[in-house]
Amino acid sequence: MAPSLFFMFCTWVVLLVTIHTSIAKPLCHADESSALMEFRRSFRINRIDFMCIYPKVESWSLDEHGDCCSWDGIECNKATGHVTGLDLSHSCLLGTLSSDTGLFRLLHLESLNLACNDFNSSSIPYGFGNLSKLQYLNLSCSNLSGKVPSDISLLSRLVSLDLNPFCDFEMTRGVYRWSILKMPNIDNFIQNLTMLRVLDLSFINMSSPFPHVLANFSSLKSLKLESCEFHGEFPVSIFQLPNLEALNIGSNYQLSGEVPISIGNLVFLNELSIRDCNISGSLPTSMGNLSQLAHLDLSFNKFHGQVRTFFANLTHLSYLDLSYNNFHGQVHTLFANLTHLSYLDLGDNNFSIGTGHWFVNLVKLTHLNLADCHLSGPITNSFENLTRLVWLQLSSNNLQGEIPNSLWELKDLEVLDLYGNNLSGTMDLHKLKELRTLDLSFNNISFVSKAEINATLPKLSNLYLDSCNLHEFPKLLGYLSTLEMISLPYNKIEGSIPMWMWNGSRESLIYVDLSHNFLTSFGNNQINLPLPKLAYLDISSNQLKTELPSPPPLVAFYNISHNFLFGEIQSICSGRSLVILDLSNNNLNSTIPPCVGKFDSLSILNLGKNKLEGMIPHAYPKCCLLEIIDLTKNRLQGPIPRSLANCKMLKYLNLAHNQILDGFPLWLSKLTELKVIILKSNKFHGPIEAYRSQFNFSNMHIMDLSYNSFSGELPSKLLQSFHAMKVIVSQDELEYMNTLENVTIYTLLFEYGMTLMNKGVETEYAKVPLALMQIDFSNNLFEGHIPALIGDLKSLILLNLSNNVLTGSIPPSLANLTLLESLDLSQNKLSGEIPQKLAQLTFLSSFNVSDNQLLGPIPQGSQFNTFAINSFAMNEGLCGSPLPKKCGTFGDDLPLPPSSQEEIGKESPFNLDWKIVLIGAGIGFLIGVILENLIIDEKSSWFLHWSKRMAKIWKRS
Ligand SMILES: *[C@@H]1O[C@H](CO)[C@@H](O)[C@H](O)[C@H]1NC(C)=O
Ligand SMILES: *[C@@H]1O[C@H](CO)[C@@H](O)[C@H](O)[C@H]1NC(C)=O
Ligand SMILES: *[C@@H]1O[C@H](CO)[C@@H](O)[C@H](O)[C@H]1NC(C)=O
Ligand SMILES: *[C@@H]1O[C@H](CO)[C@@H](O)[C@H](O)[C@H]1NC(C)=O
Repeated sequence: MAPSLFFMFCTWVVLLVTIHTSIAKPLCHADESSALMEFRRSFRINRIDFMCIYPKVESWSLDEHGDCCSWDGIECNKATGHVTGLDLSHSCLLGTLSSDTGLFRLLHLESLNLACNDFNSSSIPYGFGNLSKLQYLNLSCSNLSGKVPSDISLLSRLVSLDLNPFCDFEMTRGVYRWSILKMPNIDNFIQNLTMLRVLDLSFINMSSPFPHVLANFSSLKSLKLESCEFHGEFPVSIFQLPNLEALNIGSNYQLSGEVPISIGNLVFLNELSIRDCNISGSLPTSMGNLSQLAHLDLSFNKFHGQVRTFFANLTHLSYLDLSYNNFHGQVHTLFANLTHLSYLDLGDNNFSIGTGHWFVNLVKLTHLNLADCHLSGPITNSFENLTRLVWLQLSSNNLQGEIPNSLWELKDLEVLDLYGNNLSGTMDLHKLKELRTLDLSFNNISFVSKAEINATLPKLSNLYLDSCNLHEFPKLLGYLSTLEMISLPYNKIEGSIPMWMWNGSRESLIYVDLSHNFLTSFGNNQINLPLPKLAYLDISSNQLKTELPSPPPLVAFYNISHNFLFGEIQSICSGRSLVILDLSNNNLNSTIPPCVGKFDSLSILNLGKNKLEGMIPHAYPKCCLLEIIDLTKNRLQGPIPRSLANCKMLKYLNLAHNQILDGFPLWLSKLTELKVIILKSNKFHGPIEAYRSQFNFSNMHIMDLSYNSFSGELPSKLLQSFHAMKVIVSQDELEYMNTLENVTIYTLLFEYGMTLMNKGVETEYAKVPLALMQIDFSNNLFEGHIPALIGDLKSLILLNLSNNVLTGSIPPSLANLTLLESLDLSQNKLSGEIPQKLAQLTFLSSFNVSDNQLLGPIPQGSQFNTFAINSFAMNEGLCGSPLPKKCGTFGDDLPLPPSSQEEIGKESPFNLDWKIVLIGAGIGFLIGVILENLIIDEKSSWFLHWSKRMAKIWKRS
């Protein structure tokens, strides 16, 4: 530049600066700058908060010119100097957001963004209604709680409103904050906000029907109402909002309805998520018009039908999730042209993808889930060009043959799930440096020791090798330093649990499952595992012949059942965090230490089938949380400790097969949750009912008092208090014994089985349906009549009063027990006739009245045609088929009872071979519960993955 030109340039600059400064008197109004300073002073700066990016307020200061318009995060109107914009998002603020902090004196604000700070669970204050010029308000992701104040609804100029308490990245980072924002009346709240273009009220608890009024908000471009606890029908009219670009109503799992044809009108729609609702029907072909659609998530619903050809039209799709529905049909080339796809999840439908690997061209894919898609044949080189894959899930298919080497070249893979195929070959993991989760369960895959030693997988945190035919612990384990979960059940691993296994990951392991192997001991006889973070340990069903290992300090789930443990159980007292303790089926032979009553959070205590002796400790404090106690088959003596009455949540108490000496524990009647009492085969004695006894066992489902010495009359007041048995539960409402109050991830996963008598046979139930109502008072010394009121217990499935001293006749009211499958009154002194009406019991498949003093004709027809002679033997006066004795004059030609022949053998809802049915609630609900109970912890990413996996297994079972 020539000197003269340079001079001229400088002059211009000086001139401009002078003009500028002469106009620029301090823009900011003093009252507004002091309001801002006051606002600032009500917070501290927290630089270590995970949302903190930069504390803008640190640049604010009243000295110099004190012009607040030049401060970070402030915007002013150039003409008036009023503060119109305040953006303090991600500004590391920590403290209460309250009404008197100056904020609500900034009356000219048009835009306010306080997102992603930590307002310390304070409630949203009243005062926003003052800021009547607001057009933009963002309070998202700020740790606010309570009711959303109604004065926000006065801000009728609002164009954008975001109160979603979560940040997008929170879930992916596994950080879960409690959502405790509530909005009791959304219809009123939004009714005047008709200018809104952007509305996000996700994760605010509404507990209401979906707000139909939104259908009038024709300016809406983005509507996000995820997880608001809406229920009822989803309004079709929402699909008529002409400008809609983004719609997310996911995780409202009580929202039903169908996708209407009118969805085809939303030609600007870019994002649609109705994940995890209760939406059904098939997809309308009009969706082929949504040519702008880039993000489509329909997962976890009840969609069905053939997947339609219109998908081939949606060429902008980059995210497509159809998982967990009932879509079916050939997928083939339908998705083959969607080359922008980076996320494709078709898992858990009824697709048949077969062998044609049409996905080979989708080279942008980072996430591919084809779980449970009937994929078959070898993998070949299908994935060789999908080099961006981060997540590959091919579980539960029929893939066969060797895994090709090209799979081990996918260097970015973080999750590889090949669960449940027929794949073979050897693992060559050393290039997969990013791998976090590897699931090879239920395959025939082996490890090569050379490859193993080279393999350092610096990020591997979840390793699942269930049922992989392993005969020894993979050497690899000793080299992994970030492992959190290791799952090796159902292998053939023998010998001791080697100490080198914990070398790398002793500080990180949270979950260890070694159950169902042939393990006999701990390496170096070091029975206590050095795992300070362990929360879940399952070594059940092995052959451990050691003393009981002490539970690590954080262990919540501790299952070493079905081994040969011996000796004391005193060491259990170190398990301060136990929720589930199962040491059943061992040879433990000490007394029970009093500490078992004192664990803060123990829900399930199973010490059954050992050789424990002495008294049951009298040690249950007021805060006892126990729900299940099983001490069956030990050598316990003495009375039942009365302090058990403190366990207010107790549902199931099984003390069978011990030597307990006590009267009937009528004081348990205080425990209103109690559903099962099994006292079988002990030394209980005496009459149950005294003149003034009061009972309230209103929730009772199973009471087994058999093989004791109870005497006196059958307890009618007790039976009368069994209110739960008086209503018939419909099949859909089945619950299981293991549906616990104390819902934690552990109690959800634990399947509580029990042994019950079914038609004279001891039967193991993996899950016990609550509808399996039973009364077994057999083998006692009860005398007197059978009270007719037993006929009120309409949902009884089993009634056994055999081997007592009962007299009188069989009450005809037993014919009201229409679900009864098993009735045993044998070995008593019953007299009179068998009521003919009993032939109406069409589910009855086991019947025994032998060894009584009954007389007259045996009822004929229906189920009675199927009972053998033994059912009636040793009653001198009985006659008619199947007994050889004819009934003489009024015998054989008795009319058939009213119930028709067809009903014979009709399948009972609760018949012998109880089919294990899934818990009624949807998978989405389960995951919801799991998430709600997440320990708030950076580590909880494993939880997320794990709950997905559990959902997968539940779905399959
Ligand atoms: C909506 O606006 C109307 C008219 O301005 C007013 O009467 C009504 O109270 C407002 N409703 C709410 C909930 O703010
Ligand atoms: C695909 O889109 C074209 C035009 O964009 C349209 O004519 C056709 O009907 C669409 N096909 C389906 C199946 O929706
Ligand atoms: C995919 O694209 C190719 C080439 O453009 C075309 O021939 C084929 O019909 C398309 N497939 C589908 C299913 O639309
Ligand atoms: C991968 O890409 C190469 C080069 O474009 C091609 O030759 C090969 O056939 C592709 N592999 C598969 C399985 O499509």
